[in-house]
Amino acid sequence: MNYERTLSYLEQRGQEHLLKYYDELSEEEKGILLDDIEHTNFSAIKNITVAPAKRGKLSPITAVSAEDIKRRYAQFESVGLDFLSKGKVAAVLLAGGQGSRLGFAGPKGMYNIGVTRELSIFEQQMNNIEEVTSLTGRHFHIFIMTSRQNNEQTVKFFEAKNYFGYPRDRIHFYVQDVAPTCDKDGKVFLDQKHRVSLAPNGNGGWYSSLVNSGLARILERDNVEWLNVYSVDNVLQRICDPVFIGATVLKNCQCGAKVVKKVNADEKVGVLCNEDGKPAIIEYYEMPDKLKNKMKKGELVFRYGVTLNYLFQIQDLNNTLLGKLPYHVAEKAIPHMVDGERVTPSEPCGYKLETLVVDMVKMMGSCLAFEVDREREFAPVKNAVGVDSVETARELLIKNGVEL
Ligand code: UTP
Repeated sequence: MNYERTLSYLEQRGQEHLLKYYDELSEEEKGILLDDIEHTNFSAIKNITVAPAKRGKLSPITAVSAEDIKRRYAQFESVGLDFLSKGKVAAVLLAGGQGSRLGFAGPKGMYNIGVTRELSIFEQQMNNIEEVTSLTGRHFHIFIMTSRQNNEQTVKFFEAKNYFGYPRDRIHFYVQDVAPTCDKDGKVFLDQKHRVSLAPNGNGGWYSSLVNSGLARILERDNVEWLNVYSVDNVLQRICDPVFIGATVLKNCQCGAKVVKKVNADEKVGVLCNEDGKPAIIEYYEMPDKLKNKMKKGELVFRYGVTLNYLFQIQDLNNTLLGKLPYHVAEKAIPHMVDGERVTPSEPCGYKLETLVVDMVKMMGSCLAFEVDREREFAPVKNAVGVDSVETARELLIKNGVEL
């Protein structure tokens, strides 16, 4: 688009302030700005509201419990191993987050969780993967979603570590799509005079970004049917777990979620339950106190917390999901241009827009809640100290026999 067309395009959307510094820019910068504007999804900021969405009628979900899994372990595992041996499952690592709570400058996966030796979170997760590939003798595809901010460092790190011994042609990086940030009146921020302020569009962007990157052709070419999506946080993450795969397939579900029993009613995890009769994940801040604290036979009624480890059937992702996820609004301190200067506010001054992977579950129709032992599979690294921190993750790794 040239200047005139861009101006009229922006005027129609009430965003013409983005051209405020246009006359001050070099020819190259002008091109960059017009290109940024052309690639900005302005529809994301239509109807934004900070209030959490109204939820429907909530009821508890029945999970395949840890006891059920023990009983049917061999049956589930053999189906899962068969799927993996035929290459029907691939993994997607969500590593596009900013990890602001941890306060580590680089990509979270590069964080050294070791004590007497170097052990990055990425390496620990790749070690977990080896447990599965050693059973099948086949390496599944791993798609790693990064962000514009951390892509280069992540790719270089894997290269420098020789992909942790994993076959190079089975690891694919892609950069997550972005959404504009804006002020509280919905005016999109400029990050620099010639750059629109764009931030990763939330972990719900993983599938559309994968498709937009062109990498989905590998899924088609190799007849991959299922994707196991997992977060970079959890150092005890079991990836492409054959038992989980087998259970989800045998239960005829379109997706599966690994869940743990919440430690208490106030634990800050999303809860898998039914909403208006269909599986859905309710964020901890959306759950009314009365339901959150409800007990039956000494247990929380809404007790299954999600661990950000999901299986999705690709066919259903294509049919029901692409481009349809709602945006959530997060108030943040966002650096932006004011009167020709870039300012970095200390208080929230505007909104970031994010789609969330938790919303995909409701759209899938059916979801298997698969209960895992949190001591063996759930050690998230969210904070530097305290709850879900480097300290708690190290303790759990040691308990699981990992030398640090
Ligand atoms: P979190 O919700 O913990 O967000 O991400 P975060 O950005 O990593 O951390 P904070 O909130 O700033 O401390 C859960 C998972 O989703 C990924 C993260 O990398 C992590 O694996 N994620 C999050 C993305 O891939 N993209 C995003 O835009 C957001």
